[in-house]
Amino acid sequence: MSGQRVQDHYARPGSGTAIAARVIAALRAFAGAHVAITPETLAPIDHLHGRGYLATQELTALLEPQPGEAILDIGSGLGGPARWIAAVFGCAVTGVDLTEEYCDAARELNAACGLADRVRIMQGSALALPLPDASFDRAYSHNAVMNIADKAGVYREAFRVLRPGGRLVLAHINAGPNGPVEFFPVGWASLPANSFLATDEETRRDLAAAGFAIVTFQSLAGPTATTAGAARRKLEAEGLPPLGPHVIRPGDGLQVQINGMRAREDGRVCEVQIVARKPDGSQS
Ligand SMILES: C[S@@+](CC[C@H](N)C(=O)[O-])C[C@H]1O[C@@H](n2cnc3c(N)ncnc32)[C@H](O)[C@@H]1O
Repeated sequence: MSGQRVQDHYARPGSGTAIAARVIAALRAFAGAHVAITPETLAPIDHLHGRGYLATQELTALLEPQPGEAILDIGSGLGGPARWIAAVFGCAVTGVDLTEEYCDAARELNAACGLADRVRIMQGSALALPLPDASFDRAYSHNAVMNIADKAGVYREAFRVLRPGGRLVLAHINAGPNGPVEFFPVGWASLPANSFLATDEETRRDLAAAGFAIVTFQSLAGPTATTAGAARRKLEAEGLPPLGPHVIRPGDGLQVQINGMRAREDGRVCEVQIVARKPDGSQS
C-alpha cells in the first residue's frame, strides 16, 4: 500500500493483469487445471463483500433484472456480480469503478468467461459517472459507498442515469449503534481516513434528497451480529478457506476478515439492503 488513496487499499498500481492471473491460478490450484472459468466457478473469489455470492443473490432478488435490460453496477470491483447477473439474467451490465487495476482485472475475467460482449467495465467515479442521462433500467451498488463521504452525490448520479421508473438497489455497511469501527484494516479500508459510514437516517435523507422514493429499507444489524460471532470464531480456529477475496490481496486477509466480523459482532456496523425508485415522469 502506498499512501491513503482508496485505490491503494484495493490494489497496487499496475497490478491489474496480475490480479486476474492470481484469481484464475487460485481457482485452478483448488479445482484442477481444467476447471471451466465461469461466473459460478469464480464466485468464491470475485464477489468482494461480506457473505460473498450469497449476498449477491440477495441483492439480485431485490433488483429483479429482466432479460435484455441495461443494468449499472456502481463500484463494480472485479466484476463478479456483474458477470453473474449478465450470464444468469441475460442483461447487458455496465460496471464503473474507481480502481484502474480492478477494471483491468475485471475486463480480463470478462474475456476469460466469454462475457466481454455483455459486461462493459469503465474506470470512473461514482460521483461523476461517465454515462449519459436516463440510460439504465436498473442500477445497484454493493459495498462501495463506504469509501465515499458524499453519498448524496452518489445517489444524485444514480438518479441521473436511471430511466424514469428505474430501480436502485443498495447493499452496504452502515454505521452501527455502538460507535465507530475500532480495528483496521477492514474489507473496505486500511485506514479510518477512507471509511465513511452513514447512519440509516442519513441514508434515507440522502436518497430522498436525490429524488428517490424508498421502497424498502432493511437494516440487518441483529442477524448479522449473531452469525458474525460464529464466523469470527471459525476463522480464528481454522484460518482462511482456500478461495476467497484474500487471494487478490494476500498478506492481511485473515485479519481483515476477523476485524470485519468483530465490528459486526460489536454493533459498530450493520448491513443494509435498500430498494429505491426513480419516480415515473421525473426529469433526469
Ligand atoms: C469492497 S469493493 C466491492 C466491489 C463490488 N461491488 C463487489 O461487491 O464485488 C468496493 C469497490 O468500490 C470501488 N470504489 C470506491 N470508491 C469509489 C468511487 N468513488 N467510485 C467508484 N468506485 C469506487 C473500489 O474501487 C472497489 O472496487
